[in-house]
Amino acid sequence: MKTESLIAPHGGRLINRIIDSSRAEALAAEAAAMRSITLSTKQACDLEMMATGAFSPLTGFVGKADFDSICSNLRLADGTVWPIPITLAVDDEVKAALRPGQQAALKHQDGTLLAVIDIQEIYPHDKTLEIPNVFGTEDEAHPGVKAVMDEGEWLVAGPIQVITVTPGVEPAEQFTEFRLPPAKTREAFTKRGWKTVTAFQTRNPIHRAHEYLTKCALEICDGVLIHPLVGETKPGDIPADVRMTCYQILIQKYYVADRTMLAVMPAAMRYAGPREAILHALVRKNYGCSHFIVGRDHAGVGEYYGTYDAQLVFDEFDPHEVGITPLRFEHAAWCNACEGMTSAKTCPHGPQQKVFLSGTKLREMLRAGKRPPQEFTRPEVADVLIRWATAEQAVGA
Ligand code: ADX
Repeated sequence: MKTESLIAPHGGRLINRIIDSSRAEALAAEAAAMRSITLSTKQACDLEMMATGAFSPLTGFVGKADFDSICSNLRLADGTVWPIPITLAVDDEVKAALRPGQQAALKHQDGTLLAVIDIQEIYPHDKTLEIPNVFGTEDEAHPGVKAVMDEGEWLVAGPIQVITVTPGVEPAEQFTEFRLPPAKTREAFTKRGWKTVTAFQTRNPIHRAHEYLTKCALEICDGVLIHPLVGETKPGDIPADVRMTCYQILIQKYYVADRTMLAVMPAAMRYAGPREAILHALVRKNYGCSHFIVGRDHAGVGEYYGTYDAQLVFDEFDPHEVGITPLRFEHAAWCNACEGMTSAKTCPHGPQQKVFLSGTKLREMLRAGKRPPQEFTRPEVADVLIRWATAEQAVGA
C-alpha cells in the first residue's frame, strides 16, 4: 500500500532489519558457531525498535563517533538529530571473547536466538559522558541513571540482522493485535484516509487530563494514535497489561472509533525527560505521525526536570530537523468553576477550584477500593485499576 502522503521517516527511509525466513534459517545455523551475548530487557526492547524501523535511521547499536556526538550534541555523527545513545553494553568477561570483524549471536534471556550483530567496534562505555548529558543528573536514585550505572563497561557496536523480536514472551504480554511495526501503522493510517495523525505517548492509564490532550489534538488532526510504551518500565509503574485493559475500555466508550487507533510501542522507558521527549517524537514520526503531544514533565520522574523542559528542548532544533510537530500542552485539570477540563491558558480560576490528585493519593484510594473523582478518572478506568490494586495488595500482604 502506498503511504507517501504521510510524513517521511526520520533520515528519509524506513529501516527494516528483520531478515526473511529463508535467510533466517541459514543465519541461525551459522550463529550456532558464534560467541553469544545475552541481552538485558532494555537491550531487547532496543533491538525490536531497531528491527522494525521504529528507531530509523539506526541500523544497529551505535559506534563511538555516534555515541560521543549524541551525548554531547543530541545528534548522530552525520548531524541527524538523535538524543539518546542506543548501545549494547557488555561486561569484561563477555568483551574478552569478542573481536571487531566477527559476528556475535544476540540472545533473549531464555536462550532464544534473536539476532546477529556484525561487530564493527568495541569501545569503553563512557558513563561520565553519557549519564550527566542524557539525564541531566548523576543521582543514582534516578531510574535511568541507575540502569546505565549497572550496565557493563564496554559497548559493542554494529549493524544487526534480526531473526525474531518476541520469543519467550507470553502471548498475552505481546499484545499481538496491537504490536504494529511502523510500516503497519502507516498502512493503517492510509487505509483510514488519515493524513495528519497525533501520537500520544503514555506509560500511565489514561486519566481525564490525558484524555483532554488527545481530544484537543484530535480537533486539529485527522486521527489520534494512542501509543502506550509497553517495554521495560520501573518498578512501581502500572503494568502494561493492566493499562491496555484501561485503554481499550476507555476508547470503546469515550472515543470516536474511526478517529482513534490503539497500538503499542515496545520501547524501554529511560525517564530522561527532555531528551526522551525528542526520542519519543522521532519514533512517532517513524510510525507515520505528523504531530506529537508533549504535556507537563513528559518522560520525567521525581523532581529532576522543569515542568516544561521537555517542550523547550524542541526549540533547540530547526523544526524541519525534527520533522514531527510537537503539540505543547500546559498542565491540564478539571475546574469546578468552569465545569470542564482546563489549563492555565484557558481557565482564570485558582488551584482551589481544580481537581488534582497526587500519585500517592491515587494509589491509596485504589487500594482502598475507592473510585477517584470522575473529574480525575473515568469510572470504567477506575474499576480496572481498583481490581488490579486490590489484587496486588492481596498478593503483597
Ligand atoms: S510519560 O512518561 O509517558 O510522559 P504520562 O503517561 O503520565 O508519562 O504522560 C503522557 C503524556 O501526557 C506526556 O506528554 C505528559 O507530559 C502528558 N501529561 C500527563 N499529565 C498531564 C497533565 N495533567 N497536564 C498536561 N499534560 C499531562
